[in-house]
Amino acid sequence: MLDRRAFIGAGGTSLALLGLNSPLLAQGATVVRRSVRGMTANDPDLAAMSRAVAAMKALPQSDPRNWTRFADIHRNFCPHGNWYFLPWHRAYLVSFEQVVRELSGKADFALPYWNWTADRAFPSAFSAGNRNSNPLFHPRPGVANGLRLGDDMVGPQVISRVMQSPDFEAFGSSRPRGQDSAASQWQRRPGSRTELEFNPHDGVHQSIGGNMGVVDLASRDPIFFLHHANIDRLWSGWNARGNANSPELAWRNLVFNRNFLAGNGSPWDVRVGDLNATPALGYRYDGDDSPFAAEVAMPVGDPVTEKLRGYRQAVARGLLGSGPGIRRIEMPSLGSVYVASADNGTAASPDRPLAVTVPLSRSLGEMLGQDAVLGAASSGPETRGNRRYVFAFLHDVDLPLDAATRLRTFVNCQELTPRTTIDDQRYATSASFFGSEHAQHGGASGSGHGTSTGGGSLCIDLSQALARMGQPRGPRTDRLTVQLLPSSNSGESHASNIRPRRVEVVIL
Ligand code: C2O
Repeated sequence: MLDRRAFIGAGGTSLALLGLNSPLLAQGATVVRRSVRGMTANDPDLAAMSRAVAAMKALPQSDPRNWTRFADIHRNFCPHGNWYFLPWHRAYLVSFEQVVRELSGKADFALPYWNWTADRAFPSAFSAGNRNSNPLFHPRPGVANGLRLGDDMVGPQVISRVMQSPDFEAFGSSRPRGQDSAASQWQRRPGSRTELEFNPHDGVHQSIGGNMGVVDLASRDPIFFLHHANIDRLWSGWNARGNANSPELAWRNLVFNRNFLAGNGSPWDVRVGDLNATPALGYRYDGDDSPFAAEVAMPVGDPVTEKLRGYRQAVARGLLGSGPGIRRIEMPSLGSVYVASADNGTAASPDRPLAVTVPLSRSLGEMLGQDAVLGAASSGPETRGNRRYVFAFLHDVDLPLDAATRLRTFVNCQELTPRTTIDDQRYATSASFFGSEHAQHGGASGSGHGTSTGGGSLCIDLSQALARMGQPRGPRTDRLTVQLLPSSNSGESHASNIRPRRVEVVIL
């Protein structure tokens, strides 16, 4: 289980330097996090987790490792909908792993992960028995009703779209709007959610339901840690394909201060920049190799990555404005980035889809060039230089009252009706809304930077849908229409209403 070689030569910071030196795990050792699939209840890692969870539940409230108090760390500090989402949850898992080592006595405990793409069934070790017989059991309405995680939420298409994200903020949600420092006040301010977060992450939370469906209580359910280990595994896999994390100091230098615990319960503070890679944190994943429909690497310095950087800088410096009309950001030797937006005052509802049209005044073919390959899910290295992306940002979203709402998005689907299915080639993707209860409370008070809603933004990759429609060579279009169709299982259709105040299209 211990693999020293994986650590030697990795050249990172060690657990000891990070203040996490566990007297139990040999210094510099790396454990392997394995898939829960096929693990029996007496698997050494599962058994250790089970013992430790039982021990945490039995600890008095005065011990910060008490199960409820450890879950409260999530309620009090977790960032969602911004670029601290991935590193914060990575650190929370490391903290949990340390506590489990200490309390289970298994010095090389490695947290298992639940790869819901390969394994749609709920891990049986967590649903067997009852509260008294199994410390990993938890009441879960979504599981009791027969969990169905569809391809639209966790399927290979979704994962390959996520894995081809051209920069860190397109992969793991973007910086809070207006952020100008690495001060900890920015930790929970809203940025843009991207697909990894708004689709599989939020969707699996809502599908399981119960505590998992509510930010304040989610990590009281032990499955939380295996769900997040899979999110963390995808991040590690994205890096393994040559993609770099954000170089921005506002990201790297923020410190999660007095959020986390070391194994003995003492505070563990960690800087985002020290959470960049897993070997320095003492673990790696076994199967970084499946199941991805696409094997696309986007190394640092790729033209699309650089163009996206130019766009983000222009936004940060307030150079784009927000009125109508297309804007062009000229990037020497890289080409142009085009940005256009449209305001919106209407809500989308399950019986009345919303269409927001963004006029471009030129065709996609003129802007991208006829050789452009949109999204490039299946492209080899030879098309790499021609890879292009089209993103739609839904800004200042008034979130649905019904947290179980699922939102389908389409592009240029003029005859969209409530019955249009996701097999339509103009379907882009779907979103869920974990954490919308916070957005509604936090909306007014958290509006220190000029928005009236706390919902933040959603960033939707339209590239693959447009490619399926033959763009940029196909039918000439000088507008992009983004269609939104919410749905929910609850009878009250207005509770699923969603209204973005502005739709912005970014073409690069
Ligand atoms: Cu902070 Cu999946 O939750």
